[in-house]
Amino acid sequence: MLFAKKKINKNPKFTFIDLFAGIGGFRLALEELGGKCVFSSEIDTECAKTYASNFGEYPSGDITKIKTTEIPKHTILCGGFPCQPFSISGKMKGFDDTRGTLFFNILEIIKDKHPEIIFLENVKHLKDHNNKKTLKTIIKHLEDLNYQTEWHLLNAKDFGLAQNRERIIIVGHKIKRFDFSKIKKEKNRTIEEIMDSKGNFEYLKPEEYTILPKSKWKTQLSGLIFCGYRNKSIRVNGTRPNTEHLSRVHKQPNRIYSIKGTHPTLPSQETSGRFWIYDGKKVRKLTLNECFKLQGFPEDFQKMSSVGACYNQIGNAVAVPMIKGVASQILLQLK
Ligand SMILES: C[S@@+](CC[C@H](N)C(=O)[O-])C[C@H]1O[C@@H](n2cnc3c(N)ncnc32)[C@H](O)[C@@H]1O
Repeated sequence: MLFAKKKINKNPKFTFIDLFAGIGGFRLALEELGGKCVFSSEIDTECAKTYASNFGEYPSGDITKIKTTEIPKHTILCGGFPCQPFSISGKMKGFDDTRGTLFFNILEIIKDKHPEIIFLENVKHLKDHNNKKTLKTIIKHLEDLNYQTEWHLLNAKDFGLAQNRERIIIVGHKIKRFDFSKIKKEKNRTIEEIMDSKGNFEYLKPEEYTILPKSKWKTQLSGLIFCGYRNKSIRVNGTRPNTEHLSRVHKQPNRIYSIKGTHPTLPSQETSGRFWIYDGKKVRKLTLNECFKLQGFPEDFQKMSSVGACYNQIGNAVAVPMIKGVASQILLQLK
C-alpha cells in the first residue's frame, strides 16, 4: 500500500540512487536540489513503509540480492552504509578484502554503472575503525576504480541544526577532487528554538534530578550545555569522598542539558532516542516530533511505525540540511 503520491520530476537536473535508504534522508535533500531518484534499496520493512508513505514508492529490498543489471544508470550514487570490518585475506594483493561486506556491493554497482559521483555517509567512528584500516581500504578501492576521493568530518550543528552530530562524508569523482572547505556553513540553532509548545511531554519529578548552580554549568565546544543530572542511585563503594555524584554524571543518559545549547547526537541503537533537557523550570525529554526537527526533516514528514521504531529510524537517519549542504557544493564543483 502506498500513502504518498510519487513526485514526478520531468526535468531533473541530475539522477541519483538511494542505497541503504532508511527513511530517505538523502532523498529529501537531493530531491530539493532538483534530483530524480531512479532506484532505492532498504532491507528493513518498517523503514520501507515510512519511505513509501513519504515518497510514493517502496524501495527494493536487500542490496546483496539485487543484480547490478536491475539498477539504472545514474549521476550520483548515495548511501549511508553500515560499517563492517574487512577481511585481511586480500592483504597479499596489497589491500583488505571487502567481499561479503555491504561496501563490496557498492563497489559492484560502481564497476557496472560508472556513476559520475559517489556520495557516502558514515559514523564518525569509521575514521578509526580497525586501526584506521577500514577507511583506508574504502578510499583505496574507490581510487583503484579511478575516483578522486576525499573525506571529511562534518557536524550537523554547522548546518543550522540544534544537534551535535559528527559524521564522516566521502565524495568521489572521476576527474576532480571535491573541496570540502567550500561548503557553506550556517550557525547552529539551540534546542529552545525547535521545541514544540504543545505535546505529550515526559517530565521528571523535581526529586528525580539535580540542577547545578549556573556558575557550574559547562558549555562544551560541541555547543552542549551540561547543567545537571538525574538522582539515580550512586556508586559509593570504591569512590573518593565528595566525588560520589560523578558516577551519575559519567553515564550519558543521566546527564541533563540546557535548552540554551545543542542536543547530543540522537542515538541509533536505542528506542528511547533522546536525553534529558532543562527548560529553566522543568526537566523533560524531547518528543518524537522534536527529534525529527533535530535532523532537519520537514514538519509534514509521515511517521508510520511504532514510537520506538520511529526513534530508531530518526537516530539512524542523516541530518538532511548537512546532506543538502554537501550536495549543493557537489553540484557546483563537480557537475
Ligand atoms: C545508517 S542507516 C541509513 C539511513 C538513511 N541514510 C536515512 O537517512 O534514513 C543504514 C540502513 O541500511 C539498511 N541496510 C542494512 N543492510 C542492508 C541491505 N543488505 N540491503 C539494504 N539495506 C540494508 C538498514 O536497514 C538501515 O536502514
